[in-house]
Amino acid sequence: MCGIVGYIGPKQAQQVLREGLQRLEYRGYDSAGVVTIGDNATLLRAKGKVAELEQKIEEHPTTDGIGIGHTRWATHGEPSEPNAHPHHVGDIYLVHNGIIENYKDLKQQLEAYEFASETDTEVLAALIDSLYKRADVKLENAVAQALKLVEGTYGISVVSQKEPHKIVVARKGSPLIVGVGDEETVIASDAAALIAHTNDAIYLKDGEIAVCTAGNVEVMNLDEQPISAVVEKIETNLEAIEKQGYDHFLIKEIMEQPDTLRSTLSGRVVKEQNLLRLGGLNMSEEELRAVKHIFVVACGTASYAGQLASYYIEQFCDDVTIRNEVASELRYRSFNVPSNSIAIFVSQSGETADTLACLNEMKARGVRCLGIVNAVGSTIAREVDGGVYVHAGPEISVASTKAFTSQVSALLLVGLVMAQAKGIEPKVIEQYINEFDALPGEIQAVLDRHDEIRQVAERYKDYDNAIFMGRDTLFPTAMEGALKLKETSYIHTEGQAAGELKHGSIALVDDRFFEVAFIDEHRLFEKTMSNVIEVNARGGHVMVITNSTRDIDAETVVRIESQLQLLTPLVLNVVSQLFAYYIAVARGNDVDQPRNLAKSVTVE
Ligand code: F6R
Repeated sequence: MCGIVGYIGPKQAQQVLREGLQRLEYRGYDSAGVVTIGDNATLLRAKGKVAELEQKIEEHPTTDGIGIGHTRWATHGEPSEPNAHPHHVGDIYLVHNGIIENYKDLKQQLEAYEFASETDTEVLAALIDSLYKRADVKLENAVAQALKLVEGTYGISVVSQKEPHKIVVARKGSPLIVGVGDEETVIASDAAALIAHTNDAIYLKDGEIAVCTAGNVEVMNLDEQPISAVVEKIETNLEAIEKQGYDHFLIKEIMEQPDTLRSTLSGRVVKEQNLLRLGGLNMSEEELRAVKHIFVVACGTASYAGQLASYYIEQFCDDVTIRNEVASELRYRSFNVPSNSIAIFVSQSGETADTLACLNEMKARGVRCLGIVNAVGSTIAREVDGGVYVHAGPEISVASTKAFTSQVSALLLVGLVMAQAKGIEPKVIEQYINEFDALPGEIQAVLDRHDEIRQVAERYKDYDNAIFMGRDTLFPTAMEGALKLKETSYIHTEGQAAGELKHGSIALVDDRFFEVAFIDEHRLFEKTMSNVIEVNARGGHVMVITNSTRDIDAETVVRIESQLQLLTPLVLNVVSQLFAYYIAVARGNDVDQPRNLAKSVTVE
């Protein structure tokens, strides 16, 4: 949520920042701004998308070699120009991700200042400025002293005209990466804005401050003691974060799934030996055998991935119970952790605030924590005791698609490796390995039928309400399908257990609703069909997505040909991903950046 960029070096900072903000726009897109420092400071801010800011940059170009920029997802104060970052107070220009929780108290203490915005960020800028005014205080000293007074989370980047050759950055709970190039330093909250310039980067840790000059970075802690920082290689390349001819990132990412899934499985499924292996769990066979309880903690799509995988794992690990928990709930409720528990945190971004808070709570309780994470080097990936990178590549579209498929698969790998240690029958492993082998091809076959699914979407694009339903593994699939359609098309959708319909929701069935039923030939076919018949009987508009060849009485039936017995939901889900995409396009929506949303929810 929100994106930060910064640049110091020989290039024109405004252009580097503009390009960086375009790449980070998916992190927040209600306002944007940049400041560059030369003989004067040039501060430009605009409500709306980065394109609005670009117009201002064209009208007020500078050749300055230092600057910071921001793209915002509003927390304190509506999207507007005064609330947009950078905030300017006294000698300080500041951009900020996160939330300053005690900003009201701090504001009261900063009586000498008049505030032009409703933001917590402007208060932090004033606080730094008040400390910077003291004699012999350098920018980094003022930042360190201010951050000691702050409660909350931050990733910040600060510049001042008094010291025009440095950018000071700091983080706590909100990511910041410092790219170190030849004679230039690039700052970003996300690697996507760095890799056009350098692949060498320092991932700041919580409580660290970096003083960045052109091509040089010095890191210290809040006590202003120097820290030696490690420069790491960012593995992503530019190609992976570009649309490559597709109209939208969403369709590119849906279409990539056969390949991204192969990356998830690569080296981990050893067909010749009928074996699954995971290098990063950091658990011995004995420790895996001892596991009796698993907490799976996540938000949104990642939580549906967790729920779907849990259906399988509890089936093949018959001495393990799984609790799926939505992180925003778990973090504030009382819960008990039985002995022999582990916790698994599922997150595409690896930065989701609620998921991270639960990870910290579990660690404090001494629970072994594993991560199923896509973003390499992200906070959750760094904080867990072990885990699996899903290797789905950068996901830029706000709606998560390829990450879901890979998360489910990676969770299954963890479950199966545990089951292997517990002595599962080899033929069960063999069946999963065969299914994993066939899965990318089956997903490809669905993708090849995208035109047909576009035509089906055309039929349903004008409805305002929908219910997605399924049983067993197709219940989380229905919830995920409903979420995908809801967030991209703004059609009101609910995902339901098909058996629950008659406990309330069937009252909604009328001409303004349509129902999507996922039906698996091999699991509870008749039961789900009876729910479809109940809706038909009340004049409902039912669309069935199925792997069955049987006769099905429904307004629309999308059939996929599948040899799979187990992993069918991951194929049917691709149908509903395409369906959601084409409806969103048909409704003229901003497909990659749906209204009010942002990728990577770093505030709670
Ligand atoms: C939906 C979506 C969100 C995320 C959720 C968790 O398409 O993208 O529901 O799944 O915000 O995000 P991560 O996986 O980054 O923790």
